[in-house]
Amino acid sequence: MISHLDLVEEARAILPEGVFQYVATGAGVEETLTAAAPAWQQYYLRPRLPRDVTAVDTSTTLLGTKVSGPVHVAPTGFQRIVHPDGETATAKAANETGSLLVLSSRSTSSLEEVSAVAGPWWLQAYVLRDRDLTAEIVRRAAAAGAQAVVLTVHTPHVARKARSYEFDTSVGSPIIPELATRDDLGVWQAPDVTLEDIQWLAGLSGGVPVVVKGILRGDDARACIDAGAQAVWVSNHGGRQLDGAIPSAIALSEVVEAIDEEVYVDGGIRTGRDVVRALALGARAAFVGRPVVWALAVGGADGVRDLLNGFREDVEETMALTGCTSIDEIGPDLVTRS
Ligand SMILES: Cc1cc2nc3c(=O)[nH]c(=O)nc-3n(C[C@H](O)[C@H](O)[C@H](O)COP(=O)(O)O)c2cc1C
Repeated sequence: MISHLDLVEEARAILPEGVFQYVATGAGVEETLTAAAPAWQQYYLRPRLPRDVTAVDTSTTLLGTKVSGPVHVAPTGFQRIVHPDGETATAKAANETGSLLVLSSRSTSSLEEVSAVAGPWWLQAYVLRDRDLTAEIVRRAAAAGAQAVVLTVHTPHVARKARSYEFDTSVGSPIIPELATRDDLGVWQAPDVTLEDIQWLAGLSGGVPVVVKGILRGDDARACIDAGAQAVWVSNHGGRQLDGAIPSAIALSEVVEAIDEEVYVDGGIRTGRDVVRALALGARAAFVGRPVVWALAVGGADGVRDLLNGFREDVEETMALTGCTSIDEIGPDLVTRS
């Protein structure tokens, strides 16, 4: 698969500087962003040898939905600023590769455009100051085919970014015009989200299972599940929110130990080895954010398809080299921390 660094350089060469910096930036002085990818590399792989690895099966399930592998598309907003086909292209590519798509509620393609070409998909949502509007969006997404809602909780306040950026916010046909056409999410988003909101969303009639994204502690994971979430997602928003926050790779084990439900993870996942490390630490699946945006910028739907296929092939190779023929065989004995 294409190296992440090469992908970034290809994207940088074609994107306007202000757009490139919007995708690339972290918060603060980018401590958490910088730490994300190297944190996975602290876990060395311990191959089980010799093993018969003639047939390796990367398929698995997420909340019961069958998918071709353990790496999927994290929600990223404003995709039409990097490519005219935006989220619709990403949805098509995810569908073609048997991957799950999580659509940002700051999508610049409409629910209808996306659902027409998507395979399995979930909607990422924020609790908005207007809770009725929040409920309406979740119901509309469920009616359009979303199989779950991913509630992002790590943006109670929108952090200042490290780099200056600019882009045209009036592109495409957004799901929530207010959210997609204003860069300032803080104006719309509720700053008072609590476990009660999870309870409320989980109980919405016409709703779907709730996954909570942005959890970095075991006690919070437990509380979210007790409030009605069906799964949690370890994430620090790609280093774009609390700078200095613990890398997902380090936070993952504590969260996995705290609950029996599915745990997903994102942040700095750049190779199939990283995905296998995440699974060995107990994640059900890994998600990628920036790599998908760069691949979309460079090659539209084809670019994202090649990226996702590349990730799956890399996972398959890592499984073979570590002596695993199915996802279930990837266990904690496969990694050791340096
Ligand atoms: C340009 C960009 C936009 C993002 N937009 C959203 C969003 O709308 N909602 C959300 O929950 N997370 C958003 N994220 C965070 C991603 O879902 C994900 O947590 C993060 O990108 C994972 O880290 P990675 O980029 O290192 O793979 C965004 C990230 C980026 C880079």
